[in-house]
Amino acid sequence: MNGDGNLVIHNLSKEFVNSQKVIQVLQDINLSINQGEFISIVGGSGCGKTTLLRIIAGLETNYQGTVTLSGKPLNGCGLDRGVVFQEHRLLPWRTVKDNIAFALNNVAPQERERIIQEHIDLVGLTGFEHAYPHQLSGGMAQRVALARALVNRPQILLLDEPFGALDALTRIQMQQEILRIWEIEKNTMILVTHDIDEAIYLGDRVVVMSSRPGTIKKILRVNLPRPRDRSNVEFAYLRREIYREFFASKDEDLVYAI
Ligand SMILES: Nc1ncnc2c1ncn2[C@@H]1O[C@H](COP(=O)(O)OP(=O)(O)O)[C@@H](O)[C@H]1O
Ligand SMILES: [Mg+2]
Repeated sequence: MNGDGNLVIHNLSKEFVNSQKVIQVLQDINLSINQGEFISIVGGSGCGKTTLLRIIAGLETNYQGTVTLSGKPLNGCGLDRGVVFQEHRLLPWRTVKDNIAFALNNVAPQERERIIQEHIDLVGLTGFEHAYPHQLSGGMAQRVALARALVNRPQILLLDEPFGALDALTRIQMQQEILRIWEIEKNTMILVTHDIDEAIYLGDRVVVMSSRPGTIKKILRVNLPRPRDRSNVEFAYLRREIYREFFASKDEDLVYAI
């Protein structure tokens, strides 16, 4: 790995122009993420979460402020950052193995097979190497997307609501998988989710965003050992704190109903 691996976002603002109307999407975002940290980002729909991840991924380059990785400004996309989107975005005409192989870069030919197989095994898809995306369940397809994002050993994995389309039980299984992979890979995880329990269950810190313009409202540290217990008192306290941010204490009955 080059440098300290820390990601520093300083005074980041982003606007879009839609039919001559300027929309301020992100405003004065300041966030420093340490190498190896697990960060969850929660916020309502349209608050700029995907835009923020796209900026970190290098897919969006037109913004104000600075974003540095290991002290160097981002310069477009790079193999040091992998992304998993809500939809798996696999190529339907390629097998599991070929979807992963397609993403693998800068590797000696004799190493390719081993690395691809290692990542298929890592995400628990041993035996499905030659399956096509339409033959996979939603959870399995998302595992392939994970393997594809990890195959170049990125320092940072960006996850944009990756489990949003999965049923509740598969979602919980995938959360376990992400933790297992994080413990092996020791990379930085930045997970965007609208699921507050998921954010607390996974994150070292939970970043709560406000809507229009998207700002950071609050950052909560989750000081709970893993594996975490969702019924723990401290867990419930954090859940309530985050809901309180969303409802801005307007409706205490609502907050206590949660
Ligand atoms: N390429 C774009 N052009 C114009 N407006 C955009 C573009 N991408 C996103 N937006 C607008 O920016 C806002 C934030 O979008 P997004 O980052 O996708 O939010 P979230 O992921 O939190 O739901 C929305 O109002 C959206 O319509
Ligand atoms: Mg989004």
